[in-house]
Amino acid sequence: MISSPTHVYPVIWYEGSVLLIDQTHLPAEYAFVEIHRCEDMAQAIKTMIVRGAPAIGIAAAYGMYLGAREIETHDREQFLSQLEQVAQMLRTTRPTAVNLFWAIARMLKTAYETIGTVEEIRQVLLTTAQTIQTEDLQTCQAIGDRGLELLPKTPAQLNLLTHCNAGALATAGYGTALGVVRSAWSCGRLSRLYADETRPRLQGAKLTAWECVQEGIPVTVITDSMAAHCMQQGMIHAVVVGADRIAANGDTANKIGTYSLALVAKAHDVPFYVAAPVATIDFAIATGREIPIEERDPVEVYQIDDTILTPAGVEFYNPAFDVTPAHLITAIITEHGAFSPSQLQQELQHKYVA
Ligand code: MRU
Repeated sequence: MISSPTHVYPVIWYEGSVLLIDQTHLPAEYAFVEIHRCEDMAQAIKTMIVRGAPAIGIAAAYGMYLGAREIETHDREQFLSQLEQVAQMLRTTRPTAVNLFWAIARMLKTAYETIGTVEEIRQVLLTTAQTIQTEDLQTCQAIGDRGLELLPKTPAQLNLLTHCNAGALATAGYGTALGVVRSAWSCGRLSRLYADETRPRLQGAKLTAWECVQEGIPVTVITDSMAAHCMQQGMIHAVVVGADRIAANGDTANKIGTYSLALVAKAHDVPFYVAAPVATIDFAIATGREIPIEERDPVEVYQIDDTILTPAGVEFYNPAFDVTPAHLITAIITEHGAFSPSQLQQELQHKYVA
């Protein structure tokens, strides 16, 4: 695989198994989990050992190969039918990130279109998973460059704000929103990154901050509720976030809290950018109302480490994502350029989506 300047690879194919950085233990511990079976890959996606839309897609692609390896038949039809079951199992892991479904569909299509023995199909599946991974690295570097062209020209050095983690850990190894931040940093255009802590799972405080520290990118962690104050004080020049699924009209699902950030940015006239690969755009759905929103275990809300925060007898609601309406988004930065939400279909669907 081509290398990333970050040297952070959340998914690694190594000597017949998949190594995942265990993102549930960062920043305290940088450790890997070894995955041999597709069921374990599904579990790793569900429990967020691996997370972030593109990384979930890459992990699922390897999960498809691991599943193909476990199927014992030499009969092509039986093999394909059992592979469909593997695909279905992986699809049930996380509902919002469309990259999961995109990667599984690409792997299935490859299996159906490969002429040859079952063993030959397996080999092509492994190569395809590796290709999906390599392509993502190139795509994210292109997103970083396209984003850099778009950032406000003044001041010379910008303060950017991001939410959750859309970095190397969430992709093959460079990042979408953090890809733009990285490109800005390497060109001397970044003064400081403000990272929302991102309740309830704290991906900003734990993962984005960790990535920045690895590379010496100046980072200030704030609680989610401090973003409005920072914008009112003129401390933020642009917001850059990732996406889990973008509808054809540009409505964007991303980590819970993104919508309120977009509203606050609009109120303060701060540009609000979404950085995502074309694979994150779901042209099959017209608006964000059709995006399935994952609801996760309430324990994420009421407990931090071993501490229970709330009194007994209360109820909880834990949606993992929200939808930012297109009219709040200044531009969507893709590997093929930056577009206003209303341009997506005309500029991208017909040219780049099969
Ligand atoms: O629940 P997570 O941590 O998987 O959510 C991640 C996000 O919301 C990211 O912003 C999104 O997946 C884009 S990652 C490049």
